[in-house]
Amino acid sequence: MRNLSTMKTAIIYASKHGTTQKVANELSTLLPQHDVTMLDAGKNHKIDLTTYDQIIVGGSIHAGMIQTSLQKFIERNTTSLLQKPLGIFLCCMDEKEAMNQFEKAFPEILRHHAKCCQCVGGEFLFEKMNFLEKLMTRKIAGVNETVSKLRYENIKALAQSMT
Ligand SMILES: Cc1cc2nc3c(=O)[nH]c(=O)nc-3n(C[C@H](O)[C@H](O)[C@H](O)COP(=O)(O)O)c2cc1C
Repeated sequence: MRNLSTMKTAIIYASKHGTTQKVANELSTLLPQHDVTMLDAGKNHKIDLTTYDQIIVGGSIHAGMIQTSLQKFIERNTTSLLQKPLGIFLCCMDEKEAMNQFEKAFPEILRHHAKCCQCVGGEFLFEKMNFLEKLMTRKIAGVNETVSKLRYENIKALAQSMT
């Protein structure tokens, strides 16, 4: 293990409208003593985890599902993820379903291995949504305008567990 000043931490995320990316950025600012690399699973198909000391993985829920790119990343890298300290977070807006969605999104073996698992809330960003997404959000969530319900205390707890 490297000393703390050079701890290499990868934050691997997938984000549709930018909220999960915002959380990943927030995490990286909360880990100032780490050498943090942020990797978008939607854009990087061959992520090599061997050079990192620890990993944080995060995604978001749309229509009950996590992003396919993140799901595929997890499937391909489960063995490597089990060999490193791991943190997991999920962005979603349905507070009642948060835990069920989290359990569906991340395999049990990784949830048990992780040092910390956090549901960090989310945002409805109407300016980033297409017509169908606006329609769905109005109909299912009854929300008609941009709203942010990020749980910064959970983001901080995740960062603290990885320091
Ligand atoms: C079209 C649409 C469908 C969504 N479906 C769900 C859902 O099924 N459950 C939930 O908890 N949140 C749902 N959300 C809320 C998202 O998880 C939330 O907007 C999150 O912050 C998105 O993060 P991202 O921009 O990084 O993808 C949905 C949002 C949109 C726009």
